[in-house]
Amino acid sequence: MSRERASPPPEADGGIEPISSYLMASPLDFFFAEHFRHRQLCGLIDQLSKTTFFDPGPIAEVVDFLRFEAPIHIIDEEEDLFPLLRRRCLAEDEVEGVLGVLSAEHKADGLLGKVVRTYLERCLETRAAPGATHEGRRDLAAFATQERRHLALENAVVLPIARQRLTAEDLAGLARRLAARRGMAPAETST
Ligand SMILES: [Fe+2]
Ligand SMILES: [Fe+2]
Repeated sequence: MSRERASPPPEADGGIEPISSYLMASPLDFFFAEHFRHRQLCGLIDQLSKTTFFDPGPIAEVVDFLRFEAPIHIIDEEEDLFPLLRRRCLAEDEVEGVLGVLSAEHKADGLLGKVVRTYLERCLETRAAPGATHEGRRDLAAFATQERRHLALENAVVLPIARQRLTAEDLAGLARRLAARRGMAPAETST
């Protein structure tokens, strides 16, 4: 009988874990779990920035994550989570300024993410080590730093406020939209 791992692995220890779809029934937990995976992405990118030999596995993992998963996460926030927060938060929450900062960072992440992805795709094509060039190391490190700061703000400010302000109905609707975006049947909400 298989045993589940008691605690998550340290960041960057073994790539990016898959996410369990059942978590979507508890959408704020789902966002926290997604942020953990983004931190694993940052750890992997940091590792790549230091590699001086060509290993296609982790490079392809980062390329795929930036191409397919990161954009969906930004859409989850921009089209669903942030509008819900704008609707439900009180003036005293002062959430508008934070959401403005995060939306600007989404655009910056998208641009730098494209630079990083293009660079890593070129590494795959030419069988080059990502840490072999100064520009590559600089862009990889900049992306990881920027993304970690963004995740910290969302985890420390946005998700705790969402837990306070979103209603059970909001969370059920959010769960449905997360599932629909991924072509899945809606799950029974538990949060
Ligand atoms: Fe996020
Ligand atoms: Fe975000």
